[in-house]
Amino acid sequence: MPTESLTITDNRTGKTYVVPIDGGTVKAMDLRQIRTSEDDFGLMAYDPAFQNTASCRSAITFIDGERGILEYRGYPIDQLAERSSFLEVAYLIVHGELPTQPQLDDWCFQISEHYIIHENIKKFIDGFHHDAHPMGMLLSTVGALSAFYPDAKHIFDPATRQKQMYRLIGKMPTLAAFAYRHSRGLPYEYPDPRLSYAGNFMAMLWKRTGGEERYTPNPVLEKALDLLFILHADHEQNCSTSSVRVVGSSQPDPYCAVAAGIGALFGPLHGGANEEVLKMLREIGDKEKVYDHIKRVKRGEVKLMGFGHRIYKNYDPRAAIIKQAAHDVFAVTRTNPLLDVAIELERIALSDDYFVSRKLYPNVDFYSGLIYEALGFPVEMFTVLFAVARTVGWLAQWQEMLGDKEQKIARPRQVFTGHRGRTYVPMAER
Ligand code: SDX
Repeated sequence: MPTESLTITDNRTGKTYVVPIDGGTVKAMDLRQIRTSEDDFGLMAYDPAFQNTASCRSAITFIDGERGILEYRGYPIDQLAERSSFLEVAYLIVHGELPTQPQLDDWCFQISEHYIIHENIKKFIDGFHHDAHPMGMLLSTVGALSAFYPDAKHIFDPATRQKQMYRLIGKMPTLAAFAYRHSRGLPYEYPDPRLSYAGNFMAMLWKRTGGEERYTPNPVLEKALDLLFILHADHEQNCSTSSVRVVGSSQPDPYCAVAAGIGALFGPLHGGANEEVLKMLREIGDKEKVYDHIKRVKRGEVKLMGFGHRIYKNYDPRAAIIKQAAHDVFAVTRTNPLLDVAIELERIALSDDYFVSRKLYPNVDFYSGLIYEALGFPVEMFTVLFAVARTVGWLAQWQEMLGDKEQKIARPRQVFTGHRGRTYVPMAER
């Protein structure tokens, strides 16, 4: 009997089954042999919200939630945050290795060649009300790219896949910036490939039309934005990445799959939390009112937004890095008084058994919004910034899924709880 196995006894029949253990998992399909009769379908695993289900094998991002460890392709997040750049990290996540200088130069050039969007896409953005949420605009315009690039459906051709990655990584900042400019009633500022990825994004957002020849980003703020992109680039099988994989499993073009990821990320329990954190801090207003809010959380009236995580049962390593970066940004911009509220909220929560017993710690969204606000972003743009960065992870995970021989179209089963075999009732008899 192999050591790496389970012996399962079905007490309904007295039969025993040996099920192999592979990498800390048992295959759900190995349960189907456990049946009470020949016409019995066999056992399934039941796991709502996939809390204990591995959906894939992946070599991209490693997380140890108990120890607060996060690594992209084996490199610790704190080393990448300190020493790398977003586009270099993007190359690493997509290709699996740090690039040589020629590889990085070509990667950056190819992406910059695709910053520009088709002029007709502007008509989609123009069609939104001024107060349309930019995540809704991003979802729509990324989905629209599917109609502009019909060649993208050749997803098993590596060169075609690579070109769509250049397009999406290159165009996300432009779509995001154009959505922002539209919401402000400002003319669009076209991309400037001479600037860095973050610098070009800042220019498209904040260059004064007509007022200045060339936008020069503040280097401290440019570095802070690049750092935030690094920290948000990938996070293994989170809700939005799983959505990209599920939609991608039916083999549409990557614009359809990424649009699904944007939709999932918009939710307040996921990427939308950074926007909710700022609203929560503003509602609390000052340190003296933090206790009252904590009491509301403990009464179950509200969640402490920016706290808690499905995987991290320790401090989210990204939150610690962002907290430090906030001080660097505030040294350049005005200090955000809400930082004191956030620090007090963390201090109280981390000493209160309600949170300690539930292993609720600050996550990536708790401090990021304070930096975004200091950089000049309205709260509605916070999740858009998350989506710009996470597009790299979504594409890498999508590509890995396409190459995984164990994968096929995602189609879960269900436990049926409804009526069966009913007879149609005519209206007069209802
Ligand atoms: C992201 O998955 C990823 O990797 C996501 C992400 C990424 O990079 O892709 O890291 C980005 O989405 C970060 C999470 C951002 N969301 C928030 O900050 C929203 C607030 N957090 C929660 O809604 C919650 O913590 C989740 C959604 C993040 C995780 O929820 P789980 O794993 O389903 O945990 P749970 O809801 O089962 O909570 C366990 C207990 C419950 O209490 P009891 O019912 O046992 O009494 O903890 C409580 C929950 O009520 N709880 C909270 C809480 N989070 C969990 N109570 C108050 N405030 C919270 N924030």
